[in-house]
Amino acid sequence: MFTCPLNADACLKPLEIRHATDIYNLIDSNRQHLRRWLPFIDKTRHVIDSEVFVRAVQNQFILDGSITAGIWYKKEMAGIIGMHSINWQNRATTIGYWLGEKFQGKGLVTLSVRKFLDYSFRDLNLCRVEIKAGTKNSRSRAVAERLSFRHEGTLRDAEWLYDRFTDLEVYAILKNDWIG
Ligand SMILES: CC(C)(COP(=O)(O)OP(=O)(O)OC[C@H]1O[C@@H](n2cnc3c(N)ncnc32)[C@H](O)[C@@H]1OP(=O)(O)O)[C@@H](O)C(=O)NCCC(=O)NCCS
Repeated sequence: MFTCPLNADACLKPLEIRHATDIYNLIDSNRQHLRRWLPFIDKTRHVIDSEVFVRAVQNQFILDGSITAGIWYKKEMAGIIGMHSINWQNRATTIGYWLGEKFQGKGLVTLSVRKFLDYSFRDLNLCRVEIKAGTKNSRSRAVAERLSFRHEGTLRDAEWLYDRFTDLEVYAILKNDWIG
């Protein structure tokens, strides 16, 4: 199937149903790491939950063209990056991502977001791409800042994470600001 190279060791592959086991195993071996910032970890209990996720993102692609891809590093699934949906009225989208703990520190998500920005602005002609990161999620905020997203503000108590609300920082980059 189609792959998009990130560098000599890494690539993006649009999610397919056969990737569900890789997704589930990656989540299952990184529960503590991912649970800190992602709300869906405790609801992912069996491979079928990851199959449901893949079907949902495939349907979202059919509905509005949003892409979700696996991030692969040296033939192992390292994480996921995806558009939550595309708002065609306003030509805007929001990107989310996560990596298994051992795949951090290699630039994989920064490279992946770069590819998503190229695709969003050049191919889809979107105007605005957002990233929302927990206020204390310094690694996620660093991804947005490294790519020159502008910090636009704080959404207070915007996400429920298991036992507490967390504030989200909104970052955005506009087509006119993206130099690729
Ligand atoms: C958020 C998350 C994806 C960030 O991962 P990350 O590895 O820090 O981000 P990147 O893959 O872009 O890598 C950047 C790191 O690689 C280094 N790096 C190496 N080569 C690089 C390159 N070519 N380009 C950019 N950075 C590179 C950077 O210096 C940085 O390391 P540092 O933090 O030690 O300075 C990860 O911490 C995660 O999955 N967390 C849990 C889930 C989560 O929070 N998701 C986001 C919800 S909003």
